[in-house]
Amino acid sequence: MPVYALWNNKGGVGKSYLTFQVACEYARTHPDQKILVLDLCPQANSSSMLLGGMERGEAAIEQLSGTTPATTISGYVADRIVSPYVNPRSGSNYVTRVRGINQNVPGNLYLVCGDEELEMQAGQVQLACAAGPPDAWRIVHTWIRDLIEDVRISWNQNAITVFIDCNPSFSIYTELAISASDRLIIPFSADGSSKRAVRSVLSLVYGILRRPGQIQSQFFVNMQRYNMARPQIYSYVGNRLTQMNSSSASAFRNVVTEIFAEVFRVWQGNPAVFCVHPTGDPAPTTRQGFRRMFEEQINDANTASVVSGAMGIPICHLTAGSKTFAGRTVHVNQSQLDKQQPNITDFVAKIE
Ligand SMILES: Nc1ncnc2c1ncn2[C@@H]1O[C@H](COP(=O)(O)OP(=O)(O)O)[C@@H](O)[C@H]1O
Ligand SMILES: [Mg+2]
Repeated sequence: MPVYALWNNKGGVGKSYLTFQVACEYARTHPDQKILVLDLCPQANSSSMLLGGMERGEAAIEQLSGTTPATTISGYVADRIVSPYVNPRSGSNYVTRVRGINQNVPGNLYLVCGDEELEMQAGQVQLACAAGPPDAWRIVHTWIRDLIEDVRISWNQNAITVFIDCNPSFSIYTELAISASDRLIIPFSADGSSKRAVRSVLSLVYGILRRPGQIQSQFFVNMQRYNMARPQIYSYVGNRLTQMNSSSASAFRNVVTEIFAEVFRVWQGNPAVFCVHPTGDPAPTTRQGFRRMFEEQINDANTASVVSGAMGIPICHLTAGSKTFAGRTVHVNQSQLDKQQPNITDFVAKIE
């Protein structure tokens, strides 16, 4: 029951949307487990969706961030800023049972809510890395692991499944998220800048350089120095794909195919950065086997996706018909649901 981070060094690729959908579907299909979502993005988009969307979700974030201390990730980070190198073991104080606020999600889903304050705390977190004991950097980069451990102990479990939503920038809080995770899920969209972002994930986290002479990321250097385990790549997710049989859809597909082909080349040269899925399947040797294990495709469900996020109703739980939010009524078609629901179900079935 590992820790998954959803990250790509690019915004708008679906990290938050997929964190919401995947965590809800995973919780639904694992009713005997408790699932934890950590929102390490100051935008708190996945928190907003989990907590009920545009209206209720946003109000809940206000409420959780307004307590003293904040019942959010910033509340925990504030504890750590006060005591950077001695674990206060306070992580479980910052967990919210999502169903207590949003009736549309499974009851076994828990959240450490995102908080824009994280952006303001970033400088102090960086200071904590630079000051203190010789291995200050290492200790600060285990804060989020400590948080997960606190929650695991408070739940009296041997292991828990965690999904971490990340900010696109490789900021200090993204570093903390990545160093806390065992496995990386990398969503991307069908455009050229997504291709560049996929490369920069490889160089920032795994030190796979694009050109000779390029400097290594400090994160990579320090992870090596302190002998810390990096997450392995669990899957690449081509997201928001359109299914229309139009020329724009096929151009779209070309870009996606190209990105997948590039990732396959990375696998051929650096298989150790990937996590062979623990399904009993051997490590893939062919392009097809690689595709089955590491490539995911999620279609764009148009209005259904918007309604799902805006109302905080997981797509696999959303039904067709008229929906009212923010004072307006929109119609969700079954055909839109049919495009995406099976993608999410299939993807989650491949997550350990
Ligand atoms: N598969 C999808 N189908 C339709 N809309 C999507 C899908 N994935 C993401 N979106 C929408 O795209 C926008 C960007 O997604 P988001 O998850 O916020 O990206 P990120 O977290 O990577 O910045 C959001 O409005 C989200 O609702
Ligand atoms: Mg996001």
